[in-house]
Parts: sequence; structure tokens; C-alpha cells
Amino acid sequence: MEKNVSPEIYVFSDTWSIAENLSEDLQKQALKSEKKITVALSGGSTPRVFFQCLVSPPFQNKILWKKIHFFWGDERCVPPDHEDSNYRMTREMLLDHISIPAENIHRIQGEAPPATEADRYTIEISNHLEISEKGWPVFDWIILGMGTDGHTASLFPESSVLQEQKEFCVTAEHPETGQPRISLTLPVINHARRVSFLVTGAKKAALVARIIKEEGVFDFPAARVQPAGRLEWYLDETAASLL
Ligand code: 6PG
Repeated sequence: MEKNVSPEIYVFSDTWSIAENLSEDLQKQALKSEKKITVALSGGSTPRVFFQCLVSPPFQNKILWKKIHFFWGDERCVPPDHEDSNYRMTREMLLDHISIPAENIHRIQGEAPPATEADRYTIEISNHLEISEKGWPVFDWIILGMGTDGHTASLFPESSVLQEQKEFCVTAEHPETGQPRISLTLPVINHARRVSFLVTGAKKAALVARIIKEEGVFDFPAARVQPAGRLEWYLDETAASLL
């Protein structure tokens, strides 16, 4: 699969401007698309501002939510009402405030045994996404965060799951807490039509610069996101300050 020619870098003065831009994009894509749109969301704290914008005027009641199917790039293996749950954060910040059909929400069931859930989620993805000639699911849009260690989704540095070339989903573990996770694999991420990193804050500026300038950083999982489709970095000025 050909690597994306080069990433598109978008720098904004503040995180709300990033959120507005992404919200407008989602609105336009839903309006333009004949069929449903499959969007995989990231967890962590950065997407919160995006969700706040989506539930504010004009987006809350203007976006054609019934055409959008939400998935997750990863999930913590905890119950859906647990404080660590990416689904819980998304439900509280977004899903409870928009008129989106329940069948359009494809959460990773963190309460299930991890290996069982990785298999179930693989089937859920297969049942709802277009499958490429080579057998990979094709997300319309995957939104990713990046940790200060260069992880993305729940693909952590030096983890064996970075080598996965067959499965759609894998079980993983947070390297410090040992918390079990479920994550999409790199081939799935790299088969998406569009992948957008949403990264803010000065703490990540050095790594953002190294990865975008491709300074021998293949060890960082975020640097291995090289989709055939569009690759974008949405940054605030602090995260982009060393570019
Ligand atoms: C998760 C995320 C993870 C996140 C990064 C950045 O489940 O934690 O999917 O990959 O995007 O850790 O997190 P912040 O946005 O909180 O910095």
C-alpha cells in the first residue's frame, strides 16, 4: 500500500478553532455523502473540546447524525460507566446531547473479556464497513490522539501488537498501569480514507516536530500511521511550536 504523499498540517490559535473546523468538516461530509459515514473516535482528553463543539449550535441540530456511525479506535477494558471508559466520556460529552440512533453507536464492550471482545468488535466492524480488495475494513475517518510517548489508540511503543498484520483488533496493555485495552491495529488505521491526529499542548511539541519531519522516529506508533488516504495533523500553536 502506497504511503500517503505527505501529511496535511493545520495549525490553529486555540483548541476551539480546531473543534469548529472538524465539526464543519463532519457536517459537510454527512451532507455530501449518499451513504452512511463511519467515524472512529479516539479516547483521552483531547477530543472533549471537539465533542463540546459538536453539541453546540449550529452543529448540534444541523449535522445529519443518522448518517454517521461512531466507532472507537480503542477502549479501556472497564465497564461503560467506569471513569476511565472512552465510551462513557463520549456518551456524557456528545452522545447524550445529539439525536443519533442507538444502532449508529458501535462501542467497544470494555466490560467483556478482552480477547472475546477483540473478536466481537472485529465482526461488528466487518458487518458495518466496506472491506477492501485485500480484506481490510475501510473507515471513512479515523480521529486519533497521541500520547507524550508517541502512542496512538492503544498501540504503545515497543509493543508486539505494532507488528500485527492480520487482525483488525488486538488486546493491549498500558505499559505503566497494566490496564488492559482493545485497539484497532495499524493496518486498519492505515486503510482509512482519512486519518486526523488531534494533538494539542506544548508537552507534545517536540515529538510532533520529530514525527512530522520524519527524524528517525519509526519507533513511535504515531509515526507508523501512514495511510494511503489523507493524513492530517490538527495542532494548536503550542503543539506546533517546534515545526
Ligand atoms: C486513550 C486514547 C489515547 C489518547 C492519547 C492522548 O484511550 O487514551 O485513545 O490514544 O488519544 O493517550 O490522550 P490525551 O488526549 O488525553 O492527551
